[in-house]
Amino acid sequence: MSPGKTQDGRVIDYQELQRHNKATDCWVALHGQVYDLTSFLDEHPGGRRLILAQAGTDGTEAFEEVHSKDVISRTLSPETLIGALDQETVPEKAVKLPGSQPKGTMAEEGKPDLARVLNMYEFEYIARKTMKKGAWNYYSSGTDDEITLRENTSAFQRVWLIPRVLVDVSRINFETTILGYPSSAPFYMTATALGKLGHMEGELALTRAAGKSKIIHMLPTLSSFSLDEMTAVRGPDQVQFFQLYVNKDRKITERIVKQAEARGCKALFITVDAPALGNREKDMRTKFVDDRPAEMEEKDVKRSEGAARAISTFIDDTLCWADIPWFKRITHLPIVLKGIQCAADAVLAAQHGVAGIVLSNHGGRQLETARSGLEILPEVMAALKSYYADHPGPEMEVYIDGGVRRATDVIKALAMGAKAVGIGRPFLYAMSAYGQPGVEKAIQLLKDEMNMALRLLGAPTLAHLRPDMVDARNLGLHVGPPIRNYLSEAVYEPLAFGNHKL
Ligand code: LAC
Repeated sequence: MSPGKTQDGRVIDYQELQRHNKATDCWVALHGQVYDLTSFLDEHPGGRRLILAQAGTDGTEAFEEVHSKDVISRTLSPETLIGALDQETVPEKAVKLPGSQPKGTMAEEGKPDLARVLNMYEFEYIARKTMKKGAWNYYSSGTDDEITLRENTSAFQRVWLIPRVLVDVSRINFETTILGYPSSAPFYMTATALGKLGHMEGELALTRAAGKSKIIHMLPTLSSFSLDEMTAVRGPDQVQFFQLYVNKDRKITERIVKQAEARGCKALFITVDAPALGNREKDMRTKFVDDRPAEMEEKDVKRSEGAARAISTFIDDTLCWADIPWFKRITHLPIVLKGIQCAADAVLAAQHGVAGIVLSNHGGRQLETARSGLEILPEVMAALKSYYADHPGPEMEVYIDGGVRRATDVIKALAMGAKAVGIGRPFLYAMSAYGQPGVEKAIQLLKDEMNMALRLLGAPTLAHLRPDMVDARNLGLHVGPPIRNYLSEAVYEPLAFGNHKL
């Protein structure tokens, strides 16, 4: 039997494959085998359009960008296998891939040694210079003009630290707990989608690095690897949380939540800021859905919507506060709402008895000019203080995420009341550039920075961090260099009178 031949020996030539290129008759070749995915289209967690883009072609390379190989055997029923693709009949370059690397780049010439990388921005720089363009565009994109994306890092620069002196800082300890689970640092690895876009080991590299470094990883719904695969590589004492995108089909949602609980995830972080994914033009420009034959154009599907839209059609935009009790009924896991953006919603979350909230604008990827988590933190802490004064009982933990690049950022958030801080892109960039060792190094660099900053601040433990160690007066005023709108600047024409430009 030749490699890839099925038991009944059926061999499909490429021309035959190409004929099955419709939503009603959709064959795709993956790793040398041809599958009939027509009835799987609606079950695909990433939405039908990603499969339709590959209908009638060899979809292996596009598939490999986001999936591990064994997802086929775990997801597809055996009847979907039609036969082996006759490789002799495959025209060269039948599949066009987005984002190859131009010549003379760092990708080609080699990256700096990992040992030379000193901070999160350097990982970002190296990732930008070495990642496939489509992957870089998806990870790095923010919404609209990316004002909120840049504000997330900028906000930290409007808060100043107030060090205390003559404090014994010979022993620094920044271990903490998050929802009662130990963490070696007051930050966690937040959920980010499509790990394999950046590195073939994707979320497995992330979660292994988190485990080795004893920080908590929040596993994403829109992962490249399956929940089983991500939880299978968990170390003996490692803690993983689960981030949930709520599926319109609540039966599927219930199944996912129960599966996460059964696989040992310790908390459920429900994303509440994304009834639809935001307007990320950099990502759209990549044309993640690139190769669909013209005849497959569907009315509601544009060719160039980018990875974000391609993977998000299933999200339930009817999700509302009245659904929270349902989540509490279907799981014993503590529930955290990820994406709270004002004090009023923080109080509503407290009234609904959830275990925690994440103040987050989704890494600047959702509503443009939404405020940073850091800016919202003081009003949320004040509102919760007065709420709990009237309603004594268990109190929610408050986390923030977005724009964290330095340990001083983490420290500022903690001084202002956050229990911990989520970090997403920096770890993705470290993974994309150097795989698991890169992520471990990134975590270690942040810990080294924590050590130094706490020492210089006169705060040997996290309990020493208090609001009077920061000057946050300017945080909400936004005074400082304005956030530049590069897009509008690039097209703005100054007035001109004759030869005189204003
Ligand atoms: C995103 C989703 C998938 O922001 O979280 O792209």
